[in-house]
Amino acid sequence: MASSVSFLLLLCMAAVASAQLSPTFYDTSCPNALSTIKRAVTAAVNKENRMGASLLRLHFHDCFVQGCDGSVLLADTATFTGEQNALPNMKSLRGFDVIANIKSQVEAICKQTVSCADILAVAARDSVVALGGPSWTVPLGRRDSTTASSSLANSDLPPPFFNLTDLIGAFDKKGFTATDMVALSGAHTIGQGQCQNFRDHIYNDSNINPGYATSLKANCPRATGSGDTNLAPLDPTTSYTFDNAYYSNLLSQKGLFHSDQELFNGGSTDNTVRNFASSAAAFSSAFASAMVKMANLGPLTGSQGQIRLTCSKVN
Ligand code: HEM
Repeated sequence: MASSVSFLLLLCMAAVASAQLSPTFYDTSCPNALSTIKRAVTAAVNKENRMGASLLRLHFHDCFVQGCDGSVLLADTATFTGEQNALPNMKSLRGFDVIANIKSQVEAICKQTVSCADILAVAARDSVVALGGPSWTVPLGRRDSTTASSSLANSDLPPPFFNLTDLIGAFDKKGFTATDMVALSGAHTIGQGQCQNFRDHIYNDSNINPGYATSLKANCPRATGSGDTNLAPLDPTTSYTFDNAYYSNLLSQKGLFHSDQELFNGGSTDNTVRNFASSAAAFSSAFASAMVKMANLGPLTGSQGQIRLTCSKVN
């Protein structure tokens, strides 16, 4: 009984916390915050297209671990273990320098006003737009955590060997439907993945296009330990355009990871993949609303947490 009452209380608190986020949060306290972030993201993506993918992934890896609280940005020190060396993140997450640069530009115009968690949420949206994808309004007012959790990063971020049931479960745990999960996976229309994450899929799975598998094998040797970090595009057709080609790739068995191809493998999400492959508009609108939902995961608001001065460390 006591635990169900405290659970209800938690639910109410979560509802209030997300209700406090507002798209106009910085309109008076830092009116140029959003334009400053957009300018810096556009410059970074123009310099290197892949950065758009890396910034989008940073926001996802932030939100799925303790909520969207900037926890992923806290760097390890001798006395602090954060999330950056957790398995899904180590030698894989990128873009910390770009976020640090944006933060210093924003600090220069508004001292200790804009959180790192909000910068991540806005940078993810601006990255998608810079690569030709849909736009959406980002609710703001998140605050930054003073903690991080490598164990939650290991348990809550889905790995590339997950099957469909695992994937649905991992997203259900965060309040997403299977359709949301399929829509968010469309983020794999941009960016790159390492051989060690798709080796099993190209050598051991049968639900992969043979020509596609052969071309990937050229740069990803069978033996563990050789070429582990070699990269391949997540979307082999239009690698740096944020479009719905990810889903048509799945229809022709060209998913890079085992987990990607699981979305179209004779299971319950096949029809959603067909729908997103045939309708760019259906994908764009499902992706945008699922991103807003993701950006609302467990934010710190009001007097919780802090506004960090430097995103990589607590004040
Ligand atoms: C559905 C479950 C998911 C799994 C199993 C998964 C797994 C992965 C893996 C293994 C990589 C490559 C990492 C590397 O090799 O270094 C990757 C890259 C990426 N993921 Fe996911 N991911 C998932 C969902 C998402 C979501 C929801 C988003 C964002 C909304 C996302 C955005 C990205 C992006 C943009 C990249 C490329 C990053 C870059 O090039 O720097 N992923 N993902």
